[in-house]
Amino acid sequence: MGNQDAPVKTGTTRHFRIWRGDESGGELVDYQVEVNEGEVVLDVIHRLQATQAPDLACRWNCKAGKCGSCSMEINGMPRLGCMTRMSTFDDNETVTITPLRTFPIIRDLVTDVSFNYEKARETPAFAPPPDLAPGEYRMQQVDVERSQEFRKCIECFLCQNTCHVIRDHEENKPAFSGPRFFIRAAELDMHPLDTRNDRKEYAQASQGLGYCNITKCCTEVCPEGIKITDNAIIPMKERVVDRRYDPLVWLGSKIFRRGQREAEQTARESAPVGTAHSHAGASHEPGAEAEAERGVHWGRQVPQPQAPAVDSRGRLPISEFTFDRPAAPSPFGEDVTFPMPPKDLNYAHPEQKD
Ligand code: SF4
Ligand code: SF4
Ligand code: FES
Repeated sequence: MGNQDAPVKTGTTRHFRIWRGDESGGELVDYQVEVNEGEVVLDVIHRLQATQAPDLACRWNCKAGKCGSCSMEINGMPRLGCMTRMSTFDDNETVTITPLRTFPIIRDLVTDVSFNYEKARETPAFAPPPDLAPGEYRMQQVDVERSQEFRKCIECFLCQNTCHVIRDHEENKPAFSGPRFFIRAAELDMHPLDTRNDRKEYAQASQGLGYCNITKCCTEVCPEGIKITDNAIIPMKERVVDRRYDPLVWLGSKIFRRGQREAEQTARESAPVGTAHSHAGASHEPGAEAEAERGVHWGRQVPQPQAPAVDSRGRLPISEFTFDRPAAPSPFGEDVTFPMPPKDLNYAHPEQKD
């Protein structure tokens, strides 16, 4: 792509290469297609379907950059077909269109993006205070504006497709939710009515935030201009680090965890034998249990139990003690040289051998 926004002459013919095939394999097929002034790539695909390739599969809905359906890779760049003007290409440039690479192929340009919906289901839902009825929400405008950026997401999954953590690493998918769900976690983390105060810890422990090495590729491809890395990922990483390495917070968390452990132990011992916990997660949290017994509260998810901070014998994970600088201002300290040896990285994939 070179000649930015040079007008396209109506009725000219351009060379396209489009990937055709299914999960068993496929190839790039050459087409010569008519192009007119003001058209976008999706217009050309529609013309192709109408004239030469009626069986070419392509997902689309709004043709206005708002439904997030027409994600594809155009000359290697993840983009929306309906928002990519033909005038962004040079007159004699071949336009190569391929399906999203991170997700399994269904046919031609259509991929199976279920991975993203699975990750959406895994993300704990907005949890307002239990006694707050619909219509009683009150928020300051400044709080609305803060998270508004993340609400602009159209779920095109271009960021998910681009992220190198899963792009060529199928094995990372179970442990990594991806940038789209990091912005969801960040949005809920800054929501004044969300009662879960562990969003960033959850992102770190269960969504794979630690796999992200802030390359900003996701931000670069986002058609909504959401600053995924700067405004969501980095602040969450910083807050996780604050919590872990600020000496006072670190000390407080140790004291709290000891108390938490003792309280849990007492609750377990005093619970009548055979007490039925709700199916909503057996969280041992009285508020959540009472809420669950009243039934589903207009879609609000009862807070899920978190992995215990201590092991079955009431001990903290060994890493809490063995890490050499628990209270250092930087997690890396001053005397570490890069690249760090793999054994010192605390977010290596569990199956990684070396
Ligand atoms: S910044 Fe993080 S989430 Fe975004 S593409 Fe890079 S590794 Fe993936
Ligand atoms: S964050 Fe941006 S790139 Fe990612 S799914 Fe939402 S709109 Fe698409
Ligand atoms: S068709 Fe809706 S975003 Fe492109």
